[in-house]
Amino acid sequence: MPEKKQFRAIKGTRDILPPDSSLWNWFEQTAREVFESYNFRDIRPPIFEETELFARSIGVETDVVGKEMYSFVASDLDQLVAWRGYISNIREIRVPDALDVFQSALSYLAVQVLQGVRAGYLPDDEPNRAIQVKLNSLGAKVSEIYVDWKRSDKFGRKQELDELVSEAATTAASIRVGDEITLRPEATASVCRSYIEHGMHTLPGNVKLYYIGPMFRRERPQKGRYRQFYQIGAEVLGQSDAPAIDAEVLEMLLVFFRRVGLTRTTLYVNSIGDKECRPQYVELLREELRKVKDELGADSQRRIETNPLRVLDSKLPQEQAIIEKLPRISDHLCDACREHFATLKYELKLRNISYEENWRLVRGLDYYTRTTFEVTAEGLGSQNAVCGGGRYDGLVELLGGPPTKGIGFAIGSDRAILSIQEGGEARALPGLSVYVAWMGAASYPAAVAIARKLREAGLSVELPPEEMKFKKSLGLADKLGARYALILGEDEVASNKFTLKRLADAEQNKLSEYELLEYLESERRG
Ligand code: HAM
Repeated sequence: MPEKKQFRAIKGTRDILPPDSSLWNWFEQTAREVFESYNFRDIRPPIFEETELFARSIGVETDVVGKEMYSFVASDLDQLVAWRGYISNIREIRVPDALDVFQSALSYLAVQVLQGVRAGYLPDDEPNRAIQVKLNSLGAKVSEIYVDWKRSDKFGRKQELDELVSEAATTAASIRVGDEITLRPEATASVCRSYIEHGMHTLPGNVKLYYIGPMFRRERPQKGRYRQFYQIGAEVLGQSDAPAIDAEVLEMLLVFFRRVGLTRTTLYVNSIGDKECRPQYVELLREELRKVKDELGADSQRRIETNPLRVLDSKLPQEQAIIEKLPRISDHLCDACREHFATLKYELKLRNISYEENWRLVRGLDYYTRTTFEVTAEGLGSQNAVCGGGRYDGLVELLGGPPTKGIGFAIGSDRAILSIQEGGEARALPGLSVYVAWMGAASYPAAVAIARKLREAGLSVELPPEEMKFKKSLGLADKLGARYALILGEDEVASNKFTLKRLADAEQNKLSEYELLEYLESERRG
């Protein structure tokens, strides 16, 4: 018999198991309580969205969009996308057999378009009909060249073939496969999309939303870095960009961290300017970086042209001294941004929030303006950012909505919980309260009934489904970590009383149902 394949969680994903899952639930529940006390409300956007939404919001030059997104098309178009990719990437053909394959690819693609239209995945419109005709006619011409080439054993129609190849590439690339979708790498873009779609700008006051859920990035897995990870995020959208909003959001974040015992943290803040002052600064930075280009690593060299701000994020040791000498954004903010940043710092002081300014905090996503911040925590190694966020005034507009200001953050739950656990501050969560140790068929109905009543009273109860020997039953109660064993045998049924045994010290009491419920409930309330 061949050995059966053992399935394992996919690289970069993991199971969150009990008892850790209880800690996770408590962590998330505490966030809900704290955020709702600041009048934030839950939003649950979908886990996948149009790829274009993330590309436009986060920026095509970012690592997240450029390398890390899980994107796909409706599975029925997989074949079409594969052939489209193949044909649109061919630059030239110089071997007769390759020409044969090319001709087949053209006709496969024409068939895929036809089938896509018939199945309703592609619009039944003039451009798609024209594409099919074009692919078929290109195929016929390629076939003719192939026959000629084979027959004469001489290749004299290079230029004609090059033109056909290039025309085929353009035709293939022009096939629109409808929505390409992506598993969300973050949720700010989704929240903005939702804000626009549901006309939330007409709601009174600022719109304050929070979300809890999984995000997906194809990053290299390591401690604190996963491909499916979890965020708790909050966003404020509306007409005001008052620095008091930024400060209140930070206050809420730190109140939450304190509540869950995540105290060994540092808050870093910065302002990266707005569309008035940042472009000039970026240009200045680019000029300075060009002067030292040869001393920089390959990533930073590329970023000089694509996104020079990201060079400031570099952790490469040999770049640190160079970066320290670069011009700083704080010296190049326009008056409005300087004023905004100064007021933010005043507002933080007012709330007794300690922070460090970090002029290199530019963040990895393109939508930020003005305030950016990050919180790091101890015990996490290199992946020590437990929260990141900032202002994104203008993002809603970029996505086709009305002029809107925005600010928010996302906490990386995996890392935050890891830091709490490593700090030894994770509080013990209530586990199993009562194990019902019943013996004898006569006591079983009473055991079923009392288990239900205790559960209704909010206690966690384990009722063994089959009769067990007394000693074995109590042994299991112990192993399961139950606080109490509720003993129910012939004596108890006859006397209409329960024996409650506290497993920590073996103290035992005989109680009526009423007394039992009273006692356990008052214990649960603490
Ligand atoms: P972000 O900095 O990309 O910001 O992610 C926020 C947090 O998510 C990080 O600080 C980190 O704790 C966690 N995180 C990110 N990637 C991973 C990963 N691969 N594994 C584990 N944890 C990870 C955003 O996502 C923005 N949407 C935040 C925001 C909200 N800005 C404004 N509003």
